[in-house]
Amino acid sequence: MIQCPRGTRDFLPDEMEKRRFYENKLRHTAGTFGFREIETPIFEDAELFILRSGPNVLKELYAFKDKGDREIALRPEMTAPAIRMFVNNMSNEPKPIKIFYFGQCFRYERPQSGRYREFFQFGAELIGSATPETDAEVISMAASMIKALGLKEYKFRIGHIGVLRQRIADAGVPADRAAEVLQKLDKKLYDEARPIMADMGVTDEAMEDIFALTETVGGVEVLDRVPGDVGDYLRQVVGFLNAMGVVDVEIDLGVVRGLDYYTGMVFEAEAPSLGAEKQICGGGSYTLSELFGGEKVFSTGFAIGFDRILLAMEKEGQVYEPKGIDAYVLSVSEDMRLKAAEVVASLRAADISADVDIMGRKMAKALKYASSIKARYAIIVGAKEMEDGCVTLRDMSTGDQELVKVEDLPARILG
Ligand code: HAM
Repeated sequence: MIQCPRGTRDFLPDEMEKRRFYENKLRHTAGTFGFREIETPIFEDAELFILRSGPNVLKELYAFKDKGDREIALRPEMTAPAIRMFVNNMSNEPKPIKIFYFGQCFRYERPQSGRYREFFQFGAELIGSATPETDAEVISMAASMIKALGLKEYKFRIGHIGVLRQRIADAGVPADRAAEVLQKLDKKLYDEARPIMADMGVTDEAMEDIFALTETVGGVEVLDRVPGDVGDYLRQVVGFLNAMGVVDVEIDLGVVRGLDYYTGMVFEAEAPSLGAEKQICGGGSYTLSELFGGEKVFSTGFAIGFDRILLAMEKEGQVYEPKGIDAYVLSVSEDMRLKAAEVVASLRAADISADVDIMGRKMAKALKYASSIKARYAIIVGAKEMEDGCVTLRDMSTGDQELVKVEDLPARILG
């Protein structure tokens, strides 16, 4: 039997209904923040991702040559495609530009719970602005989305990759090897970072200073320990967040992010219930457009790991009940089958979700099927009742039955 490829999943109708329900909640929230939806191709020129994604993403890239010998990659994320689209088609539009997207991404990772090779991201990019309000707007939308989904246990951590980049550059880490060091700092692998940094000529003192910076965690007061303008900047971001009702944020200068394009504020949200793969959302400010042939434009964005957040909600006991359909029509006898077809058509025309027995089953079996597809009502079409233009309406949850005129069915079912 052929199975779906490792790290991918099939979504059956109940699961798909649930996913669409929550997806649309996210779409709705994005709309309330003035963001508009875009869609870009699932595959792109591999170069788009090679230019600035960093070593982590590169080693996980699904890349291949197509029949025309082009280097193609399945998108591992959607920020680079969104910015390519902006450079190609939207760079002259009034700023800021607020866009969001939902779709699958591909990373050749070792699959485990919450980590897939094909997964879904819901993300947004605010392009063309670089103020504390910009960053606060984006973080606040991410927070509103998580709230809209109903997740209870989660934590936001806000940092600034600019400080860390500056500090490691000052300590002697060459720009083209910064990603190597940041990758270790991201995972707090200080023992692995030491020999690498020593090899680059970084002194022990500078190293310990950098490690201490990545351990700067706490409330806004820890920003007093952050030199220069960055402390002030983040204080302003937090001020705007508070004004917008986002109060439960933590400062963590150890937020490094796995992707390489961030330049300023960075943030992550995690759901502790998920264990190892607990990061449900990540983002920050960056510039990418100049790499894709455009002018340098500052942007801030984030992506929610849709699969992970659904897992976290499930772990908290949140249950989605599939809606089922309004009505299932069945005929009592062979000669009523055409009438049943007429009845179901009239219900559908009235915007009622309705199904009809097409297998000529006996009543008991047809009713069993109706309950398996979660029909609210069964509509039983019998010859005797039809003489008065009536059918039997059976409430599937109580078993109560009543005679209803066919033309009164829509009002009775909807009301
Ligand atoms: P990212 O942190 O690489 O950021 O991915 C965003 C989210 O996608 C993660 O927080 C995680 O929840 C989810 N995710 C990542 N890999 C997997 C996987 N293998 N299986 C399941 N879920 C996964 C980005 O991709 C950036 N483009 C976010 C961004 C937008 N930054 C600025 N704008």
